[in-house]
Amino acid sequence: MSANFNNSAWFYDRLSRLVFGRAIVNAQVYLLQYIPKNANILIVGGGTGWILDEITKLQPLGLNITYVEVSVKMTAVSKKRNIGHNRVVFINEAIENVNLRPGFDIVVTPFLFDNFREQTLQKVFINIHALLKPGGLWLNCNFQLSGKWWQRILLKAMFLFFRIVCKIEGSKLPDIERLFGVYGYNTIVQQAFFGDFIISKVFTKQYT
Ligand SMILES: C[S@@+](CC[C@H](N)C(=O)[O-])C[C@H]1O[C@@H](n2cnc3c(N)ncnc32)[C@H](O)[C@@H]1O
Repeated sequence: MSANFNNSAWFYDRLSRLVFGRAIVNAQVYLLQYIPKNANILIVGGGTGWILDEITKLQPLGLNITYVEVSVKMTAVSKKRNIGHNRVVFINEAIENVNLRPGFDIVVTPFLFDNFREQTLQKVFINIHALLKPGGLWLNCNFQLSGKWWQRILLKAMFLFFRIVCKIEGSKLPDIERLFGVYGYNTIVQQAFFGDFIISKVFTKQYT
């Protein structure tokens, strides 16, 4: 059975603030400065959609956003966000089941991949990769283990909790970085948060 974040929609943000303070927000807000004016953006796994509020604060108009979120409840909350004069199309479906026109300037995957098994990661990654235009930017953040003892413990607790509540499929972090390498992405900028436990990166897609 695949993960279902419906059960966590009503407390997800409060819990994440409780454990990580502003780090989850800061890691994503850091990436948003790389969105150019009038961009055509794909956001996958935006959760409750607070990222839309943050995007609107920076750019209240001119953006074309396609917002793909598999959880019904997460999508419902996301639809109530302030989108200013930007245009947002909400799609309540798994990204791998959606037929979108390729050519996005920007794709955003905020903490989408962490709880996937390698096989799912690969499938979802390839789908998103095909939608980003050559030279486009992929804004991604995820958890990482950088060697600090407490990271392993916290990660184990998170996986255990979300396996029970949301039936997530993974039990360890998949190798997200490797896939970006395999598909020829270059890192333009990066920043770590929360004692290096969170990494935000802007990748650029190669021209073929
Ligand atoms: C770990 S949560 C992160 C939520 C949000 N980005 C945040 O940082 O608060 C991952 C989100 O991705 C969604 N998701 C998982 N697999 C997906 C898929 N294949 N397509 C679209 N959304 C997906 C889940 O429903 C969930 O809302």
